Amino acid sequence: MDNVKPLRWLTLSLLLMHVASNIDNIDIPSRLIECFSEWAKKENLTYIVGQSVLHSCVSGYLWETGMERWTPDIDPDISKFISKDAEERNNRIREAESTDATTASSYRNLRVRKEYRMLTDEERRKYHRAVKALKKDKRLKPNTFDAIANYHNAKIQNSAHRGPNFLGWHRIFLMMYEDALRRMDPDVTIPYWDCTLDEAMDDPSKSMLFSARFIGTGEGEVNKGPFKDWNHASFGKLKRDTNNGGQLMSYEDVENILSRNYTSEITTPTANYKYNLEVLHGNIHSFVSGHLGELTSAAHDPLFYMLHAFIDYIWWLFRNKQETNGIDPSEDYPETSNKNHHPNRTMDGFKMYRNIDGYSDKWTRDIYTYDMSPTCSKNKSSTCNSKWLICDHYVGRCVTKARRSNYRSLLQRYSAFMSSTPETCQPVDTIEYGCFKLDTTIQNTFVVDGSADSSKWVYLPVKIINERKLAEVFRSFGVKNGNANETLDIYDSEQYNKLKRSEDDGNMGTYRKCQLSGSGASKIFVNVYGLNYFGFSVEYTIVDERVALSAGYTYVPVRKPTTDKPSEAFIAACDSCGRLCKPFCREDGTYKPCTAAIRIGNNSNEQYGNTYADAFLNT
Ligand SMILES: *[C@@H]1O[C@H](CO)[C@@H](O)[C@H](O)[C@H]1NC(C)=O
Ligand SMILES: *[C@@H]1O[C@H](CO)[C@@H](O)[C@H](O)[C@H]1NC(C)=O
Ligand SMILES: *[C@@H]1O[C@H](CO)[C@@H](O)[C@H](O)[C@H]1NC(C)=O
Ligand SMILES: *[C@@H]1O[C@H](CO)[C@@H](O)[C@H](O)[C@H]1NC(C)=O
Ligand SMILES: *[C@@H]1O[C@H](CO)[C@@H](O)[C@H](O)[C@H]1NC(C)=O
Ligand SMILES: *[C@@H]1O[C@H](CO)[C@@H](O)[C@H](O)[C@H]1NC(C)=O
Repeated sequence: MDNVKPLRWLTLSLLLMHVASNIDNIDIPSRLIECFSEWAKKENLTYIVGQSVLHSCVSGYLWETGMERWTPDIDPDISKFISKDAEERNNRIREAESTDATTASSYRNLRVRKEYRMLTDEERRKYHRAVKALKKDKRLKPNTFDAIANYHNAKIQNSAHRGPNFLGWHRIFLMMYEDALRRMDPDVTIPYWDCTLDEAMDDPSKSMLFSARFIGTGEGEVNKGPFKDWNHASFGKLKRDTNNGGQLMSYEDVENILSRNYTSEITTPTANYKYNLEVLHGNIHSFVSGHLGELTSAAHDPLFYMLHAFIDYIWWLFRNKQETNGIDPSEDYPETSNKNHHPNRTMDGFKMYRNIDGYSDKWTRDIYTYDMSPTCSKNKSSTCNSKWLICDHYVGRCVTKARRSNYRSLLQRYSAFMSSTPETCQPVDTIEYGCFKLDTTIQNTFVVDGSADSSKWVYLPVKIINERKLAEVFRSFGVKNGNANETLDIYDSEQYNKLKRSEDDGNMGTYRKCQLSGSGASKIFVNVYGLNYFGFSVEYTIVDERVALSAGYTYVPVRKPTTDKPSEAFIAACDSCGRLCKPFCREDGTYKPCTAAIRIGNNSNEQYGNTYADAFLNT
């Protein structure tokens, strides 16, 4: 790996992405290139998933340079609540420390955070009520929920990501949210979302989690469930876009993390991909996508806090293991050259703490603790003790039930009508086999610089060329003497000298649940990250993976340029498995390799359309 060039993992791809011309190709910001190079130097490219690493680098870059772009306003009164919470926490810790050890544990009466599916129906309803009460509470502007969500803000929380402070900062942020919830209902704690239970399903987007009884719908506007029709002044109605990229963490991911000894082995920038809790958490954000897919809008979705409570839970497990191995987790703050992540620096947004205070063992000793996530065994009578989970006895693990599929027989529809049971609330006791990724479309948030409005975007044509990958077999065979030869399908280029290719496809790392569709149909996604504006969008085209080359067009939203402000964006395309495409731009009638970072002035309107229709007709 000595002679690895920066961006090698970008150029290994066999997918080509062509961006329309004459729009200026600009340099990729050097800090972003440094991030790509770091990964390329550190990792075996057949292992890491290109899109996941790219998303991590780009999100991190956009967060660190967040002060250059729009971010939501923060109610300054929030600092009063933060100081008051911190004071109460201190009092509690002081009292606990002055109580003798034998009575201490009962005195402490710790808040217990449970897995979301392990709450009783009543606990779950109370939790939802408290979250909704926070959204109505006017002690902070525009309401307490949004004020806290807006606090997850690149402008002042610069050090919350891309380094060891990620863990400590989010631990403190979660306590602040939990304190606010408990002002609504003192019994409530944040349930954590153990997404490995959903990951174990064939198609996690069909999980009960995304139903009216739990967190609400997962595709498009959240229009069922406790948080339906939630609105944010700048981000619009709450949206999710599951199953268009990313992946949930698996049991193995958690096991991998827990197999390490030191925090530096699980935090950025020192940890490898496989053990990097921050990067693996980013994949979960991408999996749910919508508002949760972009850091600045992420805390608008109540699922954010449950996702982060799970990350905090994994850290808690890791720290417990450290203690049994004689390592003091509160002292194990990794060495860092990033001054924002320095252990003694005042913690962004929480000026009573230093970064290293996030690593203190007081929080989970005197304030809160976790109930273990449910487990089961291969014993046929073993269960997960939740009506929302089933035990897969073959492997001895708990798996979330699928919500009822859309298809219902006439009798089922009739009885549902008679009992008026909401359809998404009926668990199905099987692991559902879905048409992976091909049965949903895209719902962009269309959030740009503080408002959610699709007329503030223009559409840029992108042509995608997909080259058939090696070693795949589709069920269309040649026939000899009446018999099909199932070794190779008739589209396989390798059997035709004229179509054989000189280079292999680089064997790039893929998402775990990456699978072929039998038809050859496959989505290729195009992600557009605003560089000089706040906004993220994604679109896809469908190609035929069977044939040697298959092309498709898509039209991606980019902020509408104005005379005084051209739009700068970074475009990255990948297939459904997370393999990145190689970008080309058209110049003087030919396609040339380019950076895929572009500047669109409003004098280049031949190359984009003010609407999808204009862009379509221009091409
Ligand atoms: C990367 O990993 C694969 C298998 O995981 C292995 O075959 C290959 O040799 C490795 N490449 C390098 C450069 O280490
Ligand atoms: C962790 O520490 C244990 C005990 O000292 C040791 O056996 C093991 O190899 C270490 N693991 C790693 C990944 O360094
Ligand atoms: C942080 O400050 C403490 C004293 O408060 C000092 O002992 C320690 O060396 C400092 N840590 C670093 C990494 O500078
Ligand atoms: C399986 O669990 C049941 C009930 O808990 C127990 O009686 C039985 O002995 C277990 N079987 C095995 C093989 O462990
Ligand atoms: C099937 O096709 C492969 C590859 O062309 C060939 O090597 C093999 O002999 C064929 N098998 C039969 C039974 O014809
Ligand atoms: C460029 O933007 C200005 C407003 O900023 C607008 O008046 C003008 O028509 C636009 N030009 C083109 C070619 O779109």
